[in-house]
Amino acid sequence: MQNGSLSPAVAPSAPSAAAQTPAVAEKPPASLYGGVTSRRVTVRDLASAKQRGERWPMLTAYDALTASVFDEAGIPVLLVGDSAGNCHLGYETTVPVTMDQMVMLSAAVVRGTKRALIVADLPFGSYQESPGQALHNAARLMKEAGVGAVKLEGGERSAPAIELLVQAGVPVMAHLGLTPQSVHALGGYPVQGRGDEAAHQLLRDAKTVAAAGAFAVVLEAVPAELAAQVTASLQIPTVGIGAGADCDAQVLVWTDMAGMTAGRVPKFVKQYADLRAALGDAARAYAADVIGGEFPAAEHTFH
Ligand code: KIV
Repeated sequence: MQNGSLSPAVAPSAPSAAAQTPAVAEKPPASLYGGVTSRRVTVRDLASAKQRGERWPMLTAYDALTASVFDEAGIPVLLVGDSAGNCHLGYETTVPVTMDQMVMLSAAVVRGTKRALIVADLPFGSYQESPGQALHNAARLMKEAGVGAVKLEGGERSAPAIELLVQAGVPVMAHLGLTPQSVHALGGYPVQGRGDEAAHQLLRDAKTVAAAGAFAVVLEAVPAELAAQVTASLQIPTVGIGAGADCDAQVLVWTDMAGMTAGRVPKFVKQYADLRAALGDAARAYAADVIGGEFPAAEHTFH
C-alpha cells in the first residue's frame, strides 16, 4: 500500500501548512530511500528506519531551486539550517539570523519540494527565553512556512521547551555537541564531548532530549566512539555531522558538500562537486562572449 498508492503529493506551487501535514495513520514503507514516493516523509518513517537499521542522508537547503534538486534526488530530510547565516546571507556566524529570515527561507524550501520532510532551525534568541517563546516561534515556522518539524540546540537546558513543543504537536529535532549558536561562549568551533566528564554530559543530554520527546538528535563535532555509544543507547535516530560513521543518519551543509563554499571547510566535509569553480567558469565564459560580441548570436535573437 505504501509504494505508489499513498495520498497524492502536495503540489510544490501551493505551499501551506498543509504541504507538510503527514497523511494520517499511514504504515511506514519498507524503505525510506526510494520507498516514500508520493507523499511527504514523516517522523514516523524516520523512527521505522531506525528500527530497520536503515541509514539516511540529510542536507541543508535555503531556497526553492536548490531544495527541488535535492528533493528530486531523493534526499528524505532537508534542514533549513540557521547555517543560512554564514552560507546564504553573508553573516560571519549563525547568531544574527532572525525568525523572519527563517520563515522566508523555510517557506521557499517547502514550495520547492514535494517529498522531503522539511525541518527548520529555531534561530538564536527565538527559544531560549521560555518554552512559551519556543512554541510561539515554532508555530510561526509551521503555520507561515509550512515546515514539518523544527530543530533547536541544547540538551538538558532545552528539555522544557522540547516537552512543550512535542505536547503541542510540533516534532522536534534536538542538536548536541558543537552548537554553533554558542560560538561566542565556546570561543570557536571546537570538537565537543572529549574527556570522561564531557562525554557523560553529552550522553545525559542525549537521553534527556529523547525522554523529552525529540524525534531525532543531531550530533555535531563529537568523537565517533561517543556518537556510536549515543546512537546505541537511544531509540530515536542520531544525525551525525563530524560524528563518525555509526550515526543513524548523516547531514552536511549543502554548500560545503557541493563545493560552493569559499575557502576552508571543516575536516568532516566530503566535497562531491566543485560548483564554485563551475559557476565561476560559466560567468567568465559569458562575460568573454558579451565583451567579444559573440553573445547573443543569431539563434538567441528575434527579428
Ligand atoms: O544550521 C545547520 O545547518 C545545522 C547543521 C550543521 C546540522 O544545524
